[in-house]
Amino acid sequence: MPENNNGRRRLLVTTALPYANGDIHLGHMLEAVMTDIFVRYHRLRGNDVLYVCADDTHGTPVELSALRQGITPEELVAKALENHVRDYAGYNISFDVFYTTNSEENRHYAELIYENLRKDGLVVEKEIDQYYCDHDKRFLPDRFIVGTCPRCKAAKQYGDVCEVCGTTYEPTDIIDPACGMCGNPPQMRSSEHVYVQLSKREDFLREFINRPGVLQSDMRNFVKTWIDEGLREWCISRDGPYFGFKIPGKENKYFYVWMDAPIGYISSTDYYCKNNGGDVMDYWKKGGPYEIVHFIGKDIVYFHALFWPVMLDSSGFASPASLRIHGFLNIQGEKMSKSRGTFILAREYAEKVNHPQAAEFLRFYYGSKLSPVSADLDLNKDELITRVNTTLANNIGNLHHRAMVFCERYFDGQVPEAKWDEGIAAQVEAAAAEIAGWYDSGNNKLVVEKIQALGSVGNKYFQDCKPWESIKNGDNGAAAKVIVTCVNLIKALAVFLKPITPEISASFEKQLSLQLKWDDYRFSLSGHKISAVEKLVVPIDESHLEALFAPAAASQEAGAP
Ligand code: MSP
Ligand code: ZN
Repeated sequence: MPENNNGRRRLLVTTALPYANGDIHLGHMLEAVMTDIFVRYHRLRGNDVLYVCADDTHGTPVELSALRQGITPEELVAKALENHVRDYAGYNISFDVFYTTNSEENRHYAELIYENLRKDGLVVEKEIDQYYCDHDKRFLPDRFIVGTCPRCKAAKQYGDVCEVCGTTYEPTDIIDPACGMCGNPPQMRSSEHVYVQLSKREDFLREFINRPGVLQSDMRNFVKTWIDEGLREWCISRDGPYFGFKIPGKENKYFYVWMDAPIGYISSTDYYCKNNGGDVMDYWKKGGPYEIVHFIGKDIVYFHALFWPVMLDSSGFASPASLRIHGFLNIQGEKMSKSRGTFILAREYAEKVNHPQAAEFLRFYYGSKLSPVSADLDLNKDELITRVNTTLANNIGNLHHRAMVFCERYFDGQVPEAKWDEGIAAQVEAAAAEIAGWYDSGNNKLVVEKIQALGSVGNKYFQDCKPWESIKNGDNGAAAKVIVTCVNLIKALAVFLKPITPEISASFEKQLSLQLKWDDYRFSLSGHKISAVEKLVVPIDESHLEALFAPAAASQEAGAP
């Protein structure tokens, strides 16, 4: 990893660009929280991080939604952008820039990359037979063909990707196709399309996926299978009408949304640089100082591990240093589904959970479950309550409150002057190194377990030492040592938790008029003045979550494309 910046790492980090066509839900938020924890951890360490995201605006679903709502696609994506920015902000997702793929910058980079793919000899044009619906009088986009997956035989899959087995394919590969609008079997018509011959870059791709850190090992095998099965040509053009960028030099052809979507990572960086200074190529040039880290769900691995690296490499851009792939969020053991009432929007959770720390608790809960494997995760109401109360309220909140109130009551509102317990200081020091490694590798679950263990150590220490008895017996020195130890431990935990629960840590910082950086887990607060003590955490119970998990209105049927 490049460390030529006074030992500071340079990272360009992304969350996958959510489709403008839908609202942000708790599955999106899982990915955003996971990314944000990583970003905040690295910022806390003083590393140089740029956190980039944008709305993915192009394609047929947006075009048709707009049509249905009687607005232009531009109006639709403008409204979505506003909503998405607001929803992410409600969970403290700390993007440096949240832009849109429907921008002139994005057009520029899409044309540039297309040009470079051509120069690289990877682009071919072919006359193909394509589905056309005589009833609806148009070529049918992938999302408007439904049928059976050619690979796993799952029924009711779209024409471009199987949501059951994750395979992408051409619409003509699908079994028993039907028009998604009228249900009639489509006809074949000939049309010219543009393809990228990925197989010409097979050697590069094999080398890329084997670079250390690029893929988790379970995923590397998965991607390797795709290469072994043979890299298919990738069609990057679509017929008009299409909401997207016209392909230069072609009549009524547009770039497929997945061609310009990842390019949004670059164009958003460019937009950031225009407004804040810096050179976009510093971030993106091949051999440059930045590590590019993409957080993505397991459903979009093909695009990020195969198409995207080829697009980048052929244009002299850097390849990703790491793809962090997560599984899907289920709710109460079930797939997110509108009809079953298990489809929870980010804003719904925020509105319906009647607790001022609702968003912070979700971050914590996600953090307590996330690890670097791509297994699915379950959001379970009872588990959320238990985890939040066990670690945040009863363990850390409790230790904090006991120790701080003790300072107020017996030590004039300041942390007593004494040396802190060496054994506990040593445990904190050892934990810091482990926690740092886990944050970097995305093992947030282990971070939370370690924090829980340290909190228990503190509570037991407080209980065993009985500082209130020392005070009664006039041994203020003994009590002082216990209290300074507990406050120092809490401070360390506030540092360690800061990437996951920034607001809880901020509340602690406020009470001590501090701004904690990573290395601040170490110094002693001996003699430090405390301003008014407040509880860090209000416990959560069943009643706060009632409205959210109430059976959904049957009218919220899942929308067709
Ligand atoms: N627009 C594309 C991504 C383009 S990136 C260049 C897309 N959008 S999406 O809105 O469908 O999904 C955005 C991200 O959210 C993806 O990484 C996807 O895996 C993730 N998730 C969508 N539903 C999810 C869950 N239920 N659970 C966890 N993550 C989920 O794909
Ligand atoms: Zn039709």
